[in-house]
Parts: sequence; C-alpha cells; structure tokens
Amino acid sequence: MTSSELREKYLKFFEGKDHKIIPSAPLVPENDPTTLFNSAGMQPLIPYLLGQPHPEGRRLVDCQKCIRTGDIDEVGDTFHHTFFEMLGNWSLGDYFKQESIPWSLEFLTKELNVPQDRLWITVFAGDDQSPRDEESAKIWQSLGVPKERIFFLPAEDNWWAAGVSGPCGPDTEIFYDVTQKPCGESCRPGDGCGRFFEIWNNVFMVFNRKEDGTLEELPKKNVDTGMGLERTVTVLNDLDDNYRSDLFWPIIESLEKSFGKPYGESESTTQSYRIIADHLKTAVFLIKDGVLPGNKLQGYILRRLIRRAAVKVTALKQGSPSLLWDSIKPVLEIYSGTDYFQMGDEEMVKKVISEELNRFQKSLDQGLKEIQKIENIDGKIAFDLYQTYGFPLEITEELFAEKGQQIDKDQFRGEFEKHKDLSRTSSAGMFKGGLENQGEQTTKLHTATHLLHQALRTTLGSHVQQKGSNITAERLRFDFSHPNKLTDEEIKQVEELINDQIKKALPVTTQTMSKDEALKSGALAFFAEKYGDQVTVYTIGHPERPKGVEGSIFSREICGGPHVDNTSKIGHIKIIKEESTGSRIRRIYASIS
Ligand code: ALA
Repeated sequence: MTSSELREKYLKFFEGKDHKIIPSAPLVPENDPTTLFNSAGMQPLIPYLLGQPHPEGRRLVDCQKCIRTGDIDEVGDTFHHTFFEMLGNWSLGDYFKQESIPWSLEFLTKELNVPQDRLWITVFAGDDQSPRDEESAKIWQSLGVPKERIFFLPAEDNWWAAGVSGPCGPDTEIFYDVTQKPCGESCRPGDGCGRFFEIWNNVFMVFNRKEDGTLEELPKKNVDTGMGLERTVTVLNDLDDNYRSDLFWPIIESLEKSFGKPYGESESTTQSYRIIADHLKTAVFLIKDGVLPGNKLQGYILRRLIRRAAVKVTALKQGSPSLLWDSIKPVLEIYSGTDYFQMGDEEMVKKVISEELNRFQKSLDQGLKEIQKIENIDGKIAFDLYQTYGFPLEITEELFAEKGQQIDKDQFRGEFEKHKDLSRTSSAGMFKGGLENQGEQTTKLHTATHLLHQALRTTLGSHVQQKGSNITAERLRFDFSHPNKLTDEEIKQVEELINDQIKKALPVTTQTMSKDEALKSGALAFFAEKYGDQVTVYTIGHPERPKGVEGSIFSREICGGPHVDNTSKIGHIKIIKEESTGSRIRRIYASIS
C-alpha cells in the first residue's frame, strides 16, 4: 500500500463516520510561544480540546505535518526522523471509547487488512490521579482481542500529554507484531525489544493539567488519536526500515546516484544517507512554511539541518554540498499526491538552501581543517567552532564522537550564555516542544495583534498583509508586507490608533460561518490555506453600527482565538521595535502595560 493510499483511506474512512476533514496546520504554530513546531496532530487543536467550539464541528479528521526536534540526534537508524505526518481523528466532546476503539480496529482489519492476531494492545494501569482503564480493556476484549494480548502499563507508557500543562489523559496504544518472535518470557509491547511497533494511539483527553501540576476535569470528554503515517506504511509493506518506504526511497535513490554507493553497502554510508534524506526533507518543508535559516528558534533548527546534511555530503565524497540539489526534486515528488507543494517551490527551496550553503561552505572547509588539528575537544573549543565557523554543537559533537571524544555541554552552554545576543539559540527547553499558553497575557496580546494589523493597514495602506505572528507572555511580534522602514511619525500614529480602540472599549465577538461568507463579510484571511469550510470570525467593534460611526467595526478577521471579550481589557500598547526581516517584510515588536 502506498502512503497516498493510506492517507486517503484514513480520511475517507472517518469522513464516512461523519468526521469533517480539516487541512494540516502549518509546521510553525501561529500563536504558541512555548513550542517551535507542531509535534502532534492535536497541537493546533488545543483550544478546542480545552472547550472552545470548533467551527467544523465535533468530529474531525486530518493528516497533520509534524516535526519532533527532540529526535534530531537519533536520526540515522531505521525509524527515527524529524518530519512526519500524523493521521488523526478527534471527538471534541462527542463519541468516546465505545466508538473510538472499535473504529480503530475496523479501520486496521477491514480497510488495511491487518490480521487481527498481529495487533497487541496496551491500556492505562491507573495511579493515584486517574483510575485503571478497565473500560478500554473490556472493549478490546469484546472485539475479540484476547486478554493475553492486552497489557496494563503505568503513566510512563499510557498517559499522553503534549507538554507539562494542558489537555491530557490515559491512552490505549495499538502495536503491530513485526517479528512474531518473543524476546523472552516477559516479552510485551513497549519493552523496546524490537518485536512490536506502535502504530496508533487513542488518547482519552478528559483532563487539563494546570500550571501548578494538578489535574482538573475538562468540561467535555475528548478523543485524540494519532497514527504515524511513515511507520504504518512501513509495516503494511512488510519493510523493516522506514527509509525503504515510498516516503523516503526516492531521496535515497537519488543519493545513490549522486554518490555511486548503494544504500546498505556499509553502516556509515547507510546512516549518512538516512541523515541527509531526513534533514533535507524537513528543511524543504520548513522553507515551504516560511522559515529561513538563522540563529534563533525555528531558523536555527533549519540551519542545523541544512548544515548537518552538508557536512554528511562533504564527508561522503570530497565534493560540493550542492550535490544536495539533486535530492530536492524527489522530496517534492514524494508528496505530489498532496497539496503541500506548488509549482515554483523547487526553485524557491533551492535558492534558500543554496544561500545557506554558500554562507557555510567557506567556513565548512576551514572548520573541518581546524577540527583535524584539535586533539582534545572541550565545551569552549566547541563554542569557538560555533562562533567562528558556524558549526552547530551537534555537528561538532558528532565529528568528535567518531574519534571517541565527548563534549562538555554545560561548558558549551556557559560560553553561550556569555554571548547574550545569541543566547536564544540555546538548545535548552524549547527544542523539546511545549504546549500552548492560554494565559491571560497572551490572550490580550492576541487581540492586540488584530488591532495592530488593522492599524497598520489604516495608516500605511491595504497592501499591508500579515506574514507571521508570534506571541510570548511578554510581547507580540508581527511580520507584515511593507516596502519601507516605518517613520517615527507612522509608528506613533499606529500606536495611537490602537490605544484609541482600547479606550473605546470595543466588544470582541465571534461567529462561525462558511469561508465564503466570512470573506464576503470583509473578514481578512491571509493564511487562507489553513482553513476548512467553516471558520471562526472575530469582530472588534459594534457590528450594528454603520461604517464611519464611532465604535463601528474596526477589525474583522478569520482566526481561532483566544481573545479578550472587550478591548478595554488589553491595557496600553507600546511598539518596542520596528525592523526589517528581509525583502519587503517588516517586523514589529509590541508590549502591553
Ligand atoms: N496525541 C497523541 C499522540 O501524539 C495521539 O500520540
């Protein structure tokens, strides 16, 4: 079965069970400062799992693009990769275990023809916060799964949460028996012995973990499921290596051509091919979603991926990293059955990667020479290599690991902190992903972002379009199209216009309508591809007052929220900084007090 067939079958199956198919959200969450990338299908749905109504209803299904950066260093074996797609179906307070579990089994055995005796199950064993999940176990048994193939495991295995706080709950996981050979007497799913492969996880999201660590029950019982596309395609095709599936193989083939060495020939070539294939693919997706290589946050991850791939290419063949070129096309071709890429993307991606490689090439040659001279590496030298040659720590680590040497990461980080302007690239914390912060401050800043958007359009003209937005508890950041630097006068005008709307205490109201209706009603939608048929529209101002009258509509946008219900709750806005982020895109930072 091809990956396209699996994607399609999954979406259709759940559509047949009254689910609405929703599009994948972009890889970079728009309003979640605590995480760099969407790393699970549920992540863009957090507000709805917490209780906000979803415009498309209570049964949803999708195929979400995800990145897990925590796995970067693991890439190189048969099953780790940084980019993956997660098939998922959701019940937002609609169906629960009694429907969810039988549907999963029906899909696997009837649609995918997986023999039921190759499926093994785990369920939550219970702890002092939540009871043992006898109900799920009973449902599995009633469907013909014998008791001996159902395991009760602790929270470590069968409790799912995207971050330290937020929606979470017990889960039941479905494993595929790959080898059908026990590793010993206590062989079971999740023991890491290699016999079982987890393919699907059904989470019963009934709790919200608060900042203080306690659990509160959610207003509605949700189901959140996730099936990894890559691994499922692999097992369905009886493969033992994700890189041999149709989601990777065309890239591997093009590498074989470029380097003249077959995949599988030697452990090191095979590993290098996997790393190049994975990193290049993830880089292509990131660039497509608007990320550019840089020294911070998402941009730094992209830089790391491109540079590590380049190091691998250079190490494989004393040649130019531009050999990466030939493998970009296969990445796009793999996804020709989806709407992820459009005409012209190949050129655009090549341009970004080639610029980054040019920056890196000179220092790569020098740096590699330099590295040969170093006898004993430590954190400080690693930092110098980073600073002088742009070698990400992970690459230096890898090069020295080949010589059997380790780097003191704390020492590296210590050096790093000393260089304050670069400190945000620290690989601490954020790279592991987190959870949407629905805090009061970010809610205010979110509404303030809409005011800013409109204020910029009123002041500078309607060519101003949102190009990106990012909110932390301290400030908002807003990217928009505009050719020139803003004058002090313009900044003052924008600020005043926003603060006027705040003083007017305008109501913020929400409505659900079709996308066409929303656009007709004058709502702005600059991330149009992200929305489904039904959308939520936020209006700031009194809709009943005619245009031009004091307090009439100031801003109307398609948006998922969350928002304050009245602009008076925002406080006072201050623009802290205005700068360029590249050609014709300006960036504004603003805070509230
Ligand atoms: N959110 C669950 C997961 O990612 C389904 O495994």
